[in-house]
Amino acid sequence: MRSIFKSLLVFGLVSLSLARPQDNILQGRAGHDDGDDHDSNDDSHTSTSSAAASTATGSVTSANTALVGMQGDSVCTGLMCIGGFVNGTSVTYTLQSQSSSSVGWMAMGFGSQMANTPMVIMWPNSDGKITLSQRKSTGEFMPTVDSSPPRTATAQAALSTASGSNPKLVFTIPQDSTVGKSIIWAYGNTNPGSDAVDATLVQHLNSGPTSLNLANTLAASDRDPTDPAVSTLAGGTTSDSGSGSGSSGSVVIPLLNYQKMLIAHGVLCTIGFLLLLPAGALLARYLRSFSNAWFKGHWIIKLLSVCHHLYFSRGVNSF
Ligand SMILES: *[C@@H]1O[C@H](CO)[C@@H](O)[C@H](O)[C@H]1NC(C)=O
Repeated sequence: MRSIFKSLLVFGLVSLSLARPQDNILQGRAGHDDGDDHDSNDDSHTSTSSAAASTATGSVTSANTALVGMQGDSVCTGLMCIGGFVNGTSVTYTLQSQSSSSVGWMAMGFGSQMANTPMVIMWPNSDGKITLSQRKSTGEFMPTVDSSPPRTATAQAALSTASGSNPKLVFTIPQDSTVGKSIIWAYGNTNPGSDAVDATLVQHLNSGPTSLNLANTLAASDRDPTDPAVSTLAGGTTSDSGSGSGSSGSVVIPLLNYQKMLIAHGVLCTIGFLLLLPAGALLARYLRSFSNAWFKGHWIIKLLSVCHHLYFSRGVNSF
C-alpha cells in the first residue's frame, strides 16, 4: 500500500512539474494568453539605476549618444535582452545574450503568445555566418518556416557578434505601426548545427511574453538598444550589480493559460489518485467483512475516479 501511495504521489508531482513556467512554448501547446498577465514586473526595461550609471562613468566604452532622442526600447530577461530602435522606415532589433548560458539560438516574435505569431529565429554557425529563419507555428509543434511572413526580416551580420561574453544577433525589419508592443522571446542553448533556415531546433531553455515600446523616446541613461545587455546610450555599463538597481536577475515567466490548466490538472489528478483510488481499495478491504454492499461502494468510487480523470484530461486537451 505504501509503495502505491508513493508512486501516486510521484505521478502527481510529475503532472505538476509538466506545468512549470519553463515549459516548452516553442514546441508545446498553444497558450491562450489573454495578454493581460505579461506586464513586466519580471523584465527590466530601459531604466538603469542611477547607481549603476554613476559608478560606470570611469569605464565608458562605447557611447552611442547618436540614438538619444530616437524612438526605441530595450527589455531584458534572465537569459537575453532585446533592443529595438526605429531607423527611418525600418526597425533594428538586437537579440543579445545575458551570458548566463551559451547561445544556441535566440528568437523573438511579434505578438503576445506562441500560436500564429510571426517569429524571427537566429543562430550563429561554425563558419561565422548567421542564419535568420522566419517561422510560425499553430502552437502545437516546433515552428516551421513561414515562406511569406507579413514582414521580411534581414540579418545584419556586420552588426552582429557571435562570440565574446555577450553575443548579439541583429536584424532589421520594416516598421509596422499596426503591430502592438507585445513580443515573445525564446532562448536556446543548443545550436541547430546547420545553417539551413528549416533546421531542427532543439527545445529552448526558456521563453515567455514581454513587451517592447518602440514609441518610447530614448534617453542617455537608457540601455543602448544596439547593445542592451552591456551598455547604456551614455556609455555606462548596464551592470545590474549596483545597489538600488531595479534590473534583471532571475526571471519568472508568467504562466500561460494552458500552463495554469496543466497545474489544475496536476492538482486534481493528485487529489483523484491520492483519495479516490485508495478510498476504493480501503472500502473493499475493510467493509468486505461487514457488508455485502462493499462491492457496490468500491465500484462506484472507482467509476467516479475514472470519470474524474477522463473529464479533467479532456478539459486540458481541448486547449
Ligand atoms: C539607419 O539605416 C541606414 C540605411 O538603412 C544605415 O546606413 C544607418 O547606419 C542606420 N542607422 C543606424 C543608427 O543604425
